[in-house]
Amino acid sequence: MQTIVTDSPEEAAGYLNAGGIVAFPTETVYGLGAGICRPEAVKKIFRAKGRPADNPLIVHIPKPEDIDTVAREIGEAARELIRHFFPGPLTLVLKKSFTVPSEVTAGLDTVGIRCPSNAVTKRFLGFCHCPVAAPSANISGRPSSTSWKAVLHDLEGKIDCILKGTPSDIGLESTIVDCSGAQPRLLRTGAVTIEELQALIPEIETAVICSNDEPPKSPGLKYPHYAPVARIRLCATGEPVVSAKDSSSAWIGMSSPPAAGRHAFIRQCGTTGEYARILFDFFRQCDALGIDTIYCELPPDEGIGRAIRDRLTRAAAGH
Ligand code: TXA
Ligand code: MG
Repeated sequence: MQTIVTDSPEEAAGYLNAGGIVAFPTETVYGLGAGICRPEAVKKIFRAKGRPADNPLIVHIPKPEDIDTVAREIGEAARELIRHFFPGPLTLVLKKSFTVPSEVTAGLDTVGIRCPSNAVTKRFLGFCHCPVAAPSANISGRPSSTSWKAVLHDLEGKIDCILKGTPSDIGLESTIVDCSGAQPRLLRTGAVTIEELQALIPEIETAVICSNDEPPKSPGLKYPHYAPVARIRLCATGEPVVSAKDSSSAWIGMSSPPAAGRHAFIRQCGTTGEYARILFDFFRQCDALGIDTIYCELPPDEGIGRAIRDRLTRAAAGH
């Protein structure tokens, strides 16, 4: 299959409306979409990514008020979150409406819904004839794509079209909150922080499940994620780099690295926002350079730093 690359949201939506699968930019990471009214196209997403069939997709809507077309039983906590964070980097899990086919939700009675804020995404979604089911546009288990070039690298020849946009502003996937049960519950950390969520909904359950032993509330949590080919070593600030045998190592963090001369590639980030924005691209650059070990300094456990720590921990577990 030939993959068309375009900067026209209308042209890209045309491929999707014709039953194709199309990658598109968002402020979090790039998505790989199919119309929810085209179940056969939704199935193609799983094939192109090598995604396990029991891992549901997020449905993207162009306007906050469209949520009523894909969800039901939207309670007060969910309404409050929608008022504050839609459009933006938040996904809500709610009871699904009949318009959402089981191919999207992997058979669940709930659906993840997001309304992106990126201007190009909004234009693209506006041209699509129905809401767009989309996971991140990467090979399953690998770092998410934060640029159209990363999408091309992973998925060229496997998808119909890539809508070109700028690199993703945030660089990490959306925060996910499950509002389908009695109590709202955080399923994935992201740019909407725990602090912001708690300020709005004090009773929110924020103990994110990281273990493979418990039954996962979010099916995707049990799979390895975000892993580059290179090995990931997590380190605390100031911790000396231990391995002397690495033929080629890289370092990313907020302070200047101990043993800087040892590394072939270094990124020192000025803010946690910058760390989040460049992390997955840094992983991909390291793989392109043939780096075999990436030392990652853990950022402070607050704000978006929690989401960075979560992704780093999962990437390290992927080996
Ligand atoms: O920022 C994002 O969320 C990006 C952009 C493209 O919107 N999308 C994204 O999708 O990260 P994906 O598929 O890589 O991650 C979605 C996560 C998975 O862990 C999946 O299991 C979970 O959301 N999820 C989807 N529907 C769910 C549901 N009904 N209940 C619980 N978890 C759900
Ligand atoms: Mg993903």
